[in-house]
Amino acid sequence: MYDSRLGNIMTEHITTPFDAASTAAQVVAGIDLTGRRAVVTGGASGIGVETAKALASTGAEVTLAVRDTAAGQRVADGIDGTVRVAPLDLADRASVAAFVAGWDGPLHILVNNAGVMAAPETRTPEGWELQFATNHLGHFALTTGLHRFLAVEGARVVSVSSSAHLMSPVVFDDIHFVERPYDPWAAYGQSKTANVLLAVEATKRWAADGITVNALMPGGIRTNLQRHVDPRQMESMIDQAVEQGFRVKTPEQGAATSVLVATSPLLEGVGGRYFEDCAEALPNDGNMVNGVAAYALDPEAAARLWQVSEETLG
Ligand SMILES: NC(=O)c1ccc[n+]([C@@H]2O[C@H](COP(=O)([O-])OP(=O)(O)OC[C@H]3O[C@@H](n4cnc5c(N)ncnc54)[C@H](OP(=O)(O)O)[C@@H]3O)[C@@H](O)[C@H]2O)c1
Repeated sequence: MYDSRLGNIMTEHITTPFDAASTAAQVVAGIDLTGRRAVVTGGASGIGVETAKALASTGAEVTLAVRDTAAGQRVADGIDGTVRVAPLDLADRASVAAFVAGWDGPLHILVNNAGVMAAPETRTPEGWELQFATNHLGHFALTTGLHRFLAVEGARVVSVSSSAHLMSPVVFDDIHFVERPYDPWAAYGQSKTANVLLAVEATKRWAADGITVNALMPGGIRTNLQRHVDPRQMESMIDQAVEQGFRVKTPEQGAATSVLVATSPLLEGVGGRYFEDCAEALPNDGNMVNGVAAYALDPEAAARLWQVSEETLG
């Protein structure tokens, strides 16, 4: 966990005036990002829409990086401000490379928001497990590809993770479920742990360039994300989680922590951390709904994942 103001590792727990009930609009109220440029992956649905809306309201120019550009354009048309749409399929290396090649000029905010959850066993043409390929490898390729544009003082990368990271560390011995039976939740959890580890290692590598990267859990929000889960199973999982203190949020509330991490002056220079409900998460105490797992913030695992990702992507 890095704080450039102190030039060292910082352990103080960060809170803000916002909480689980705050909306993205409340978080960005009074923040002026005119002249700044932002990308939101998966900005055509769910919390990505609300994230883009809030960023555009600050005066930032927002690009929705989406695989369905017609849906992206419909969303863009409904947002006040400067909102562009560009094609991006995170599970397709050529598509990520084309997005990077098409980018020009500085990039101040990259919100790695797109994701797929609990999909049935699916593999990319390379044989990579789809959730890891989309949620982690695609965003890794995008983020490292855009690094030269991000290298502007105060640039922020936002890694949208999940409390589902508590379901699995990155299993380096069998990331793609070749040796072990496929489990859609273990695969999702692994990919969401990878999202946190990306924030840890990217901040370590890039803080000197003025770039910080943080991860977050948006909360539980009913969106298209649940499309692969039987509705009865989903409702039963939500009921169980609610009993443990989990609260279901609106998409406007679900985008609040992403937007906080992307824009708040309170987080200037802060990186390598995991937030939830608009505050830094506490260490997980064994429950399955909140807090951050030690393995997700482990610097050695973060460095290893970076190396494995580079090798995988060639
Ligand atoms: N909703 C929750 O309760 C919850 C909880 C914890 C974490 N999260 C995280 O929040 C993020 C946003 O989720 P959401 O709830 O807003 O779900 P959502 O409405 O399904 O949005 C996810 C977006 O990701 C896009 N996407 C999926 N695969 C892609 C690919 N290969 N290339 C490019 N884009 C792709 C989807 O595009 P299409 O529309 O084309 O499919 C969609 O726009 C995800 O990272 C998710 O893991 C959500």
